[in-house]
Amino acid sequence: MHLRSKPWAQPWLAEHTDLVIDQTRAQAQRGKWQQLFDKRQPIHLEIGSGKGQFIKEMAKQHPDINYIGMEIQETAVAIAARKSFEEVGVLPNLRYLYGNGSGVETYFEPAEVQKIYLNFSDPWPKKRHESRRLTYPSFLRSYQAVLPAAGEIEFKTDNRHLFEYSLLTMLNFGLQMTPADLSLDLHADEDKVAGNVETEYEQKFLAKGQPIYWLRAHLEDK
Ligand SMILES: C[S@@+](CC[C@H](N)C(=O)[O-])C[C@H]1O[C@@H](n2cnc3c(N)ncnc32)[C@H](O)[C@@H]1O
Repeated sequence: MHLRSKPWAQPWLAEHTDLVIDQTRAQAQRGKWQQLFDKRQPIHLEIGSGKGQFIKEMAKQHPDINYIGMEIQETAVAIAARKSFEEVGVLPNLRYLYGNGSGVETYFEPAEVQKIYLNFSDPWPKKRHESRRLTYPSFLRSYQAVLPAAGEIEFKTDNRHLFEYSLLTMLNFGLQMTPADLSLDLHADEDKVAGNVETEYEQKFLAKGQPIYWLRAHLEDK
């Protein structure tokens, strides 16, 4: 998803630094993210949060978790943060990070993030773009660097090829999952879909009748 730049985005972000943290501030915040939230509680991070529907809804539903929506596109993070600000103000447990998932370990200390969500990540279907996929091994290494020993990654996509690829890279990386952690049609599975919060992309694909692939993986607790 590429969004055309919006003239209001930069000035809006400059005025809302309580809600959106840029890369430079994120690096200075490493090891101290809890200071930005009202309560000290687990931090869950969505990488590629787009227009922010999922992360805002999660923050509203789970006040006992601190959420961060990370986005590489300035326009997307500005749209997400502005929508959320206009709807609910600055929630005590929600912040946005304007940054790149590949640099996650420069923003967070080991075990500073308890869980990572990857929702409808760009598929990058061409082999020569494989290293841009958010489940490429170098990304998994970065996620491991910020998660605790048995940290969790949850992934949803409409793209069967990206799902198969991600399953293989995760298993090769040593991530753990059982049949209860996988679905090839999340919305047809009553148990697994319970508590699921739909993303913007998920709603688009559901409306077209497409199945949503889902998995939840754990790092090995050594
Ligand atoms: C297809 S959109 C999905 C948005 C949202 N998660 C949803 O499900 O509706 C993927 C998003 O990931 C962002 N993205 C891609 N690579 C990224 C990276 N390396 N770090 C952070 N965000 C990234 C894109 O800018 C885009 O907004």
